[in-house]
Amino acid sequence: MAFVSPMAVRQSTFTSGVQHCCDLTNRHAAQRTPSTTATAPKTGRAFSQPRMVQYEVRRTVPKIDWNNLGFQYIQTACHVQSVWKDGEWSALQRVDEPYVRMHIANTALHYGQSCFEGLKAFRGRDGRVRIFRADENAKRMSSSAARLVIPNVPEQLFLEAVHTAVRENEQFVPPYGTGGSLYIRPILFGSGAKIGLQSSDEFTLLVMVVPVGDYYKGGLSPVTAIVMEDYDRAAPKGVGHVKVAGNYAADLLPNMMGKSAGYPINLYLDAQNRRTIEEFGTSNFFALKGNTYVTPNSRSVLPSITNKTLIQLARDDGMMVEEREVDIDELETFDEVGACGTAVVITAVTRVVRGSKLYEIGDEPDRVGERLHSLYRKVRAIQYGEAEDRHGWAQELLLL
Ligand SMILES: Cc1ncc(COP(=O)(O)O)c(C=O)c1O
Repeated sequence: MAFVSPMAVRQSTFTSGVQHCCDLTNRHAAQRTPSTTATAPKTGRAFSQPRMVQYEVRRTVPKIDWNNLGFQYIQTACHVQSVWKDGEWSALQRVDEPYVRMHIANTALHYGQSCFEGLKAFRGRDGRVRIFRADENAKRMSSSAARLVIPNVPEQLFLEAVHTAVRENEQFVPPYGTGGSLYIRPILFGSGAKIGLQSSDEFTLLVMVVPVGDYYKGGLSPVTAIVMEDYDRAAPKGVGHVKVAGNYAADLLPNMMGKSAGYPINLYLDAQNRRTIEEFGTSNFFALKGNTYVTPNSRSVLPSITNKTLIQLARDDGMMVEEREVDIDELETFDEVGACGTAVVITAVTRVVRGSKLYEIGDEPDRVGERLHSLYRKVRAIQYGEAEDRHGWAQELLLL
């Protein structure tokens, strides 16, 4: 029976960031239209063949409407990868097709041995590209890897992979002034074949990038969050504190249910007592109360790099910071509440629904408070090279 042959993966190798052996002439290539391919069986029973969307290598730089980018997949020129086998990580390779060829018995697909990161590169006012706090993502990926019995990715390799992926796709970093950025997604997973439950003997690190738009083009707007009573995000001694793929699979259903009920964001409580606030589905919880910045200190919350950034900015401004248990009933005592994460920096949460109870935050829940606006502007100004980066968070793109 005929079958769709595995895709050829055009690759090139980097050693110390220098590219060898590859056709780079057309590498920043074109808008490619997905085409579908189906191959009919020649003999025997007529199994219907799966229709595969096949992406070809980009041959020219696509036309991108930079001012209207959302948060959606757009094919860029390439991703980079390194494979761990026999105790070592390989030299970085550039891969032009947006596919991964992997064994059907890999442990990521079967047992969820997979973790990832999310960070951004920004084109500044001076035209330079800066990557925000990648060293923190490297550390968090090490902690996720350790929990999943995946070999450590040395910080140097992580940073080289991130900088190389951005550099090889530099034309996809949105222009300054559009509010867009290049979202960087490092992924680390067990790619070797095992059928019983055990750790893999081969691992793959990939770094892909996608240009994304300014979520809050019209300024921050207030949202209402929901507590989904029948769902928990993370068990007290589970894996909530690391960025593993399975956490997001568990959040998909309650997330979609919340959205279809009209709530863009879910607030999770502690799974044991359902009294204290943990975090939102894909962002940390923080609140401002007088001169104090409050955020939960649960060990099943993902340590957000944006939260860490906001904590430092709050301290720089002379605020007190409390990392402690936060009872759900405290919501009404806060002046402002935010959800923070790389994707949008801050979402202003002014109402929370739990069953028949509606919590309203601050005196004017139809407006976003001035201090959330101010924190949001400060982070963005550092990211776009508009304000002094006194903590050295935004690293210029390295020419490795
Ligand atoms: C569960 C969860 N919490 C918090 C965050 C925010 O983390 P960061 O600020 O590092 O993007 C994310 C996003 O990565 C997340 O998925």
